[in-house]
Amino acid sequence: MFSRVSDRYDLLNRLMSLGRDGAWRRAMWSGVPGDARTVLDLCTGSGASLPGLRKAGRLVLGVDVSGPMLEIAAAGESQRGWAPRLVCADAFHLPLPDGSIDAVTIAFGMRNLRPRERALAEIARVLRPGGRLLVLEAAAPRPGPLAPLHAFYLRSVIPFLGRLSPDPAAYEYLSRSIFEFGAGEEFERDLAQAGFSISERRGFMLGATRLWAAERRGGRLGPPREATRSLQPATLGELPRGEMRSLSPVGSTEWRWWNGVQLLLSAALLVALGLALRVYSRLGGGLPLAPWQRLSLHFLLWAGVIGFAVRTVVLWLRLRDAPPRR
Ligand SMILES: C[S@@+](CC[C@H](N)C(=O)[O-])C[C@H]1O[C@@H](n2cnc3c(N)ncnc32)[C@H](O)[C@@H]1O
Repeated sequence: MFSRVSDRYDLLNRLMSLGRDGAWRRAMWSGVPGDARTVLDLCTGSGASLPGLRKAGRLVLGVDVSGPMLEIAAAGESQRGWAPRLVCADAFHLPLPDGSIDAVTIAFGMRNLRPRERALAEIARVLRPGGRLLVLEAAAPRPGPLAPLHAFYLRSVIPFLGRLSPDPAAYEYLSRSIFEFGAGEEFERDLAQAGFSISERRGFMLGATRLWAAERRGGRLGPPREATRSLQPATLGELPRGEMRSLSPVGSTEWRWWNGVQLLLSAALLVALGLALRVYSRLGGGLPLAPWQRLSLHFLLWAGVIGFAVRTVVLWLRLRDAPPRR
């Protein structure tokens, strides 16, 4: 199924997350310990979660069961001049030695791995004791005032947007599988049973997407030991200086200020346009305007109000997320 939808997978991801999936991945990357020397991105798909894992001296593995998805990942990474190891393999039978991985990331993949207990057991096997697991996943609505809106989005909007895909049925599956995954409580129980201790939980877009960080129990949380002989970190060739600099996090204070200013401006414009619309509705009939001018003005005011309302919400949600890494 994923091989069939691989062509437009990234585009639909962007649309369905309202352009926020990049920020969620950055939050996941920021949870990977800086000293992790072997990192596995499980269910890597088209490789969207790989770039932020790049670090000098670190071995990054992208594993997926779909060849066409991995081909897209390989094409994308070769353009960046970086070569993570991409492996076509089943998450239930990872071709990796026990305890050989320092951190595992999995974005929007956990939901597809069933039975979940077996998938978590396999992840626990390859993760060293004390190693970290980061799971980013779309979750079902939790009870609350926004639950009906969230359920409507999952049941109607996602399958509707899925019509842009070569296989619309895959997006009906997506919607169904999010409900089957649940709101997270059951997943947290499975994590605990598989030997993980949850250290962090975050929610994005009012809980529609969630991030869990968990450590594999059974070992100290110290620095990773040397990579096993069977998993050697890739030697880092000469990286252009710019490349090295691009790994540093953006100054988070400046980022918050800049987004805060944009948010204020957007909210101010929204209020101004809302007032203008109100005044125009009251006085518009008396203004000396041709019918087409009246119609255009009406349309422009409404478009402005809707546009700035959406922008204000998007900026507000962005401010709640982690600052990006360059
Ligand atoms: C929703 S996509 C997520 C891709 C990517 N992580 C992202 O964030 O865009 C789920 C991926 O899981 C992969 N997958 C499903 N079952 C798998 C399995 N048993 N072993 C490895 N990969 C699997 C699919 O091929 C697909 O690429």
